[in-house]
Amino acid sequence: MAVFSIRPMTEADVPAVMLVETQIYEFPWSGRNFIDSMRAGYRLHCMWLDQQLVGYIVLMHVVDEFHLLNISVRADLQGRGHGKHLLLWGLDQARAAGASGMLLEVRPSNTSARALYEKQGFKLIGVRKNYYPAREGREDALVMFKKFSAME
Ligand SMILES: CC(C)(COP(=O)(O)OP(=O)(O)OC[C@H]1O[C@@H](n2cnc3c(N)ncnc32)[C@H](O)[C@@H]1OP(=O)(O)O)[C@@H](O)C(=O)NCCC(=O)NCCS
Repeated sequence: MAVFSIRPMTEADVPAVMLVETQIYEFPWSGRNFIDSMRAGYRLHCMWLDQQLVGYIVLMHVVDEFHLLNISVRADLQGRGHGKHLLLWGLDQARAAGASGMLLEVRPSNTSARALYEKQGFKLIGVRKNYYPAREGREDALVMFKKFSAME
């Protein structure tokens, strides 16, 4: 039976991560971005199905909030619940660390990511103008926040 696991990303994982990253984003992170994030103490984790990289998540703990910096699923494995699984796992990590909520930015054009976040209770709290590079000029970022309640 295939076994899923979520483990801390190491520098040795970066080449496999970059294969996914460059496949799914028009403006991907660089390998250096991942390594610098690790060295800065951010929380980077990979999800594996046996030996196969399924996706990864990058979280940054800032004061009492977690920021979701990157969540990605391999192109041919998208739409099967893996992104939701990774996000729920990240939310559990944030709650366990005592955070009050999670913040993220998303492109307005990224309908699948927005659907994922909205279904998990993230609310739009603002817009950062011209935040992302785009094919023609820049694209705004929607800023979304999920506040944790004592009931969750
Ligand atoms: C965004 C991403 C991580 C989502 O992961 P995924 O494995 O494809 O998504 P899932 O199959 O877990 O779907 C999660 C939910 O979003 C919904 N969803 C996913 N894609 C959707 C789409 N295109 N339209 C509408 N809803 C969609 C699903 O219905 C599901 O809802 P559910 O909770 O009711 O089951 C993945 O598509 C991805 O890596 N995209 C490219 C990278 C990216 O854009 N990352 C986010 C940057 S902000």
